Amino acid sequence: MPQQQDIAEIPTEIFSNRSHNGSLAAYVWPDNMLAQFKKDVEQGLGAFPKILPSKYFYDKKGDELFVRIMDLPEYYLTRAEFEIFSEQSGELIQALEISPNQHFELIELGPGDGTKTKELLKVLDQGAYQFDYLPIDISQNALDQLEHNLAEELPGVCVRKKQGDYFTMLASLRESHHPKVLFFLGSNIGNMTDQQAAEFIYKLGSNLQPDDKLFLGVDLIKSANIVLPAYNDPAGLTKAFNLNLLARINSELGGNFDINKFSHQPEYTIENGIAISYLVSTADQTVTLNGSNKTFKFSQGEKILTEISRKYNDEIINNIIGNTDFQIAHKLTDRKGYFADYVLKRI
Ligand SMILES: C[S@@+](CC[C@H](N)C(=O)[O-])C[C@H]1O[C@@H](n2cnc3c(N)ncnc32)[C@H](O)[C@@H]1O
Repeated sequence: MPQQQDIAEIPTEIFSNRSHNGSLAAYVWPDNMLAQFKKDVEQGLGAFPKILPSKYFYDKKGDELFVRIMDLPEYYLTRAEFEIFSEQSGELIQALEISPNQHFELIELGPGDGTKTKELLKVLDQGAYQFDYLPIDISQNALDQLEHNLAEELPGVCVRKKQGDYFTMLASLRESHHPKVLFFLGSNIGNMTDQQAAEFIYKLGSNLQPDDKLFLGVDLIKSANIVLPAYNDPAGLTKAFNLNLLARINSELGGNFDINKFSHQPEYTIENGIAISYLVSTADQTVTLNGSNKTFKFSQGEKILTEISRKYNDEIINNIIGNTDFQIAHKLTDRKGYFADYVLKRI
């Protein structure tokens, strides 16, 4: 039976869609996202240990489930970061050195429903700041809903959405010369290994101008009795969210997963600050994908790694940005010290 793998063993390409040559400039994402989805699934289920990239959680059902997860009492992450946005917006604006006299772009990677960002957009809109908001998300559904909601709630804000994998969208940051503030919230970065995060931030930096800023929201290392319930709520929403990945493979790739023969299993190791969600096969079974000549065998108890949710502290962040030209300029935390938003400035 496969054992729990160390994060270092996880094949990095599967999360980042980077080419196998490892070059920073060689991110690959073909136009046909369905073909890429199939390729990633076949590669991930053919690997040992098995792995599926978490970015595929977010179809319409996955988006809806995640919005409900953010409301759960156990899911402290959203509330903690929301508190920072709602109670410290003045400090946040000051730390980002945003001025009402200069037009800037607020670019957000993976905004989802934009709950927290909207708090800031409100303040900026009322304060007559001049800016465009550019959300970039892999989920067209999330972007369409966000655009629709913003048109109703904040009609004065200019929204220019972009759909795609943020790994491939970084070069588009060079399209304009306006000052930029890049938001990467909700500990989205925690889905990457530290090495991928370091390469990603390095690549971000190489596509930004010297005065541009990165605003990075991360979940902080804390005890298992707080972390684990956030990924294993009694209402079963995180379980449904995890299993929806298999349902999506069934509906979009013609898979024949029996969803009832997989269970949801989150694990957390406080020593390294890494939470991992798995789907565990509850029986010996074989799965096929339509149009694929491959079959994927599962033994009882075999795990599929579906999500890493890394937790951080200053030391880990400093290690990650150590080889980039960013440094920590400011740090905002919620009152309980559960979550931090770092302002990273170019050196
Ligand atoms: C966990 S949700 C967090 C949403 C938001 N950042 C927050 O803090 O509430 C992750 C969001 O990132 C998007 N996403 C995940 N991986 C992505 C990728 N590789 N490229 C673009 N968007 C991605 C998902 O579609 C989803 O909207």
